[in-house]
Amino acid sequence: MNYRHAFHAGNFADCMKHALLVWLVEALKRKPAPFFALDTHAGVGQYDLDALPASRTQEAREGILRLLHCQAEPLVPYLSLVRRLGLYPGSPSLIEALMRPDDRLACCELHNDDVRDLRLLFAPNAAISVHHRDAWEALRGLLPPRQKRGLVLIDPPFEEPEEFATLAAGLQLGHSRFRTGVFAAWYPIKQRARVRYFLDIVRTSGIRDVVTAEFLLREPLDPSRLNGCGLLVINPPFRFEDEALAILDALRDGLGLDEPGCGGTVARVCDE
Ligand SMILES: C[S@@+](CC[C@H](N)C(=O)[O-])C[C@H]1O[C@@H](n2cnc3c(N)ncnc32)[C@H](O)[C@@H]1O
Repeated sequence: MNYRHAFHAGNFADCMKHALLVWLVEALKRKPAPFFALDTHAGVGQYDLDALPASRTQEAREGILRLLHCQAEPLVPYLSLVRRLGLYPGSPSLIEALMRPDDRLACCELHNDDVRDLRLLFAPNAAISVHHRDAWEALRGLLPPRQKRGLVLIDPPFEEPEEFATLAAGLQLGHSRFRTGVFAAWYPIKQRARVRYFLDIVRTSGIRDVVTAEFLLREPLDPSRLNGCGLLVINPPFRFEDEALAILDALRDGLGLDEPGCGGTVARVCDE
């Protein structure tokens, strides 16, 4: 448990993940029936980018601080929420901001300090439960939800070398418990080989209807660097592929990227 998201809050990877997350939650709201969201690795929910530790790494300078005044239409839903919420919002705060009165959110966080902060943040909101619980165990314990429709965000810290295999196993478990759920799993792209290995496991798992949205800062040739990241989505809502690509294109332009190989791609991993 060395990973602290506060060092990385608002970086390009957060912007990519959160812009797509906002789109996915909005897509769930196309139907009036309430949704359930599970945020398996929730973090602390909000981050002060002017304070330590974010100000020490300055990662947000290459991320949200470059984007804040961008007016590109595909980024408007995400950026307007960030502007409205003040402190940089983590995934559970973005979901909270989009919830309707009957929607529910469960958050899991294993770090003792972070779960305490998260509980304080959401104490006034009875529609949100915060669990001091292991994410992988929660995929068994908290699924399927009573609401029968919803989103599971899996956003591991990728501290351990076997985290891609753990993530693939978690997706198989979660999907076996909640087959109609939309699952969104974040992964880092340092080199292509690890991602191929992960996608091969998913491809042979029997899970259907899977796409990836990937965003690269540069060609992933140096495995010591975070060269990009991806979001694997199971049961993507209607129009996800087109709209995700528009979001990634706007992100590339808004961040002013120009290195060879930079930008977004959306690809189908398994058919319906
Ligand atoms: C990448 S951060 C989450 C960021 C958050 N989803 C967001 O977008 O704002 C990963 C979080 O998972 C927590 N964590 C690590 N291992 C965990 C586990 N097995 N179960 C639950 N939480 C875990 C870490 O303490 C960290 O806060």
